[in-house]
Amino acid sequence: MTLGFVIGESKPTLVTAQTSRSLPIGEYVIIDSQDGKIVGLAEKSVVSSAALGDIKNYDEALESIEVAELNKRDKSYTASIRILGFLESLQKGKAILPAVPPIPGTQVIKATKEDLGQIFGPENNEWIKIGNLLRNSEIDSLINLNKIVSRHVGILAMTGMGKSNLVTLLAMQIAKLDGTVIIFDYHNDYSDLNIPKINVIDAKINPRLLEADTLSDVLEIRESADVQQRILRLAFTPEIKESANFWEALDEQVQYIGANPERKEDRHSADRVQDKIDDARNRASEILDPDMTNPVGLIKEGRLNILNVSEFTDKQANVAISYYLQELLADRKAAVNAKSAKSKLKRNYRFNTPIFVIIEEAHVFIPKNEDAKAKYWAGKIAREGRKFGLGLGIVSQRPRDIDANVLSQMGSLAVMKIVQEDDQRQIASAAESISREFISQLTSLNIGDSVLVGQWVNLPAIVHIDEVKGKTIGSDQNAVGEWAVAKKIDDAGTKSSQDLVQKDLLMD
Ligand SMILES: Nc1ncnc2c1ncn2[C@@H]1O[C@H](COP(=O)(O)OP(=O)(O)OP(=O)(O)O)[C@@H](O)[C@H]1O
Ligand SMILES: [Mg+2]
Repeated sequence: MTLGFVIGESKPTLVTAQTSRSLPIGEYVIIDSQDGKIVGLAEKSVVSSAALGDIKNYDEALESIEVAELNKRDKSYTASIRILGFLESLQKGKAILPAVPPIPGTQVIKATKEDLGQIFGPENNEWIKIGNLLRNSEIDSLINLNKIVSRHVGILAMTGMGKSNLVTLLAMQIAKLDGTVIIFDYHNDYSDLNIPKINVIDAKINPRLLEADTLSDVLEIRESADVQQRILRLAFTPEIKESANFWEALDEQVQYIGANPERKEDRHSADRVQDKIDDARNRASEILDPDMTNPVGLIKEGRLNILNVSEFTDKQANVAISYYLQELLADRKAAVNAKSAKSKLKRNYRFNTPIFVIIEEAHVFIPKNEDAKAKYWAGKIAREGRKFGLGLGIVSQRPRDIDANVLSQMGSLAVMKIVQEDDQRQIASAAESISREFISQLTSLNIGDSVLVGQWVNLPAIVHIDEVKGKTIGSDQNAVGEWAVAKKIDDAGTKSSQDLVQKDLLMD
């Protein structure tokens, strides 16, 4: 079906088309050039009216509307079309741009399912469906799972736009293929998911396994409290780490240091450290467990593991996440090295196959301008994970606060609605393949719409992501509804107690 013609000045990467209708931004079209079919993407779309172009007053506008309605030639629909490459090469997964620009007059036609199906939905078991093209909705949109495990992915959008929905979709698909997924669940969003192969675990920290400075983070000892830090470092000896009653032993050791102070201020600070230990034991006994074996042991291979970190403070969550990341990387390194050494000694490693780890609220754990342990390990995985089959997914509603280095290591991105310019700028600098026109589209996306760029797709795409049915995550709170129900219950309570009083009176 003819949509229009190439007009004006053409470039090998960009043409202007005059069309018979408005081309929605994000629609793929075919430019039927002499050298072969070329795939293009509408990046900008303008409608203008000859009669209504230069209106000076209200009456003139009214008259011109009538003129415009009568004149078939009044409206002009133009679109800027980005050239993505020859159709035939794109269908083979390669982008070859034309050497000469399409000449003006070349037909622009509607892209069919046959044209685009192979590009956006290759038939190969590495590819899984996550939605449909937003503007060519008859075409499925698939992503290459291998690429996200080897080259990582960033999922970025304002709050409530569908990040966790996409995470759930990806995680379900990986688990369906017997892969291992780990989600650090910061808001306890995922534990109620009613899906197969889910393994919900409360993340824990074994304080014996920590370094002294990490333990002081967990105990919430301030970084500036030098004396307390030193006392904890002195008390946290290898013997204490191994003693049967860990907390008692640590407490006694701190008490001992306080009773035999090197300096005057040690006495008071030792008391403070003891308070901190008491506090942590009382408040965080569920998450600080010196008697568990390695917390990583609860993660199951081939499952969708939800690690609930919602009970942690930010600092504790940071310690927990960095601990898990460090262990996972070490485990995968050992497994891969053993495999490549063709070791005769057949040891069963904890994780024999690649893992995909997802960090929600990534701006908290991988912050810009701040040193955090989790950031260090996330950065290391972003750089080295590829070799060891450890993929990273980072999810955030504040891309501007994520460490730019780590973000730029994400080989693929899903970007949903984002209004803040700082966020858009950060995304633009993290992904070269995302053009400025695409970025300007981000403000007008609806819930579940996403721009996909990077290695997990053959071509940048604007898609609508499938909604995972039967989930209860992240739904907005129905405040008005809940208030109404609460009021009803309240009223019913008052009424029934009034009834009782009435009854009592009658009985008297
Ligand atoms: N692809 C989709 N299609 C239709 N509706 C969707 C889609 N994705 C999400 N939604 C709706 O939007 C709501 C919020 O989605 P989700 O929890 O995934 O957002 P989020 O970006 O993770 O938000 P937050 O930043 O608060 O974590 C969901 O409860 C769901 O009803
Ligand atoms: Mg979410």
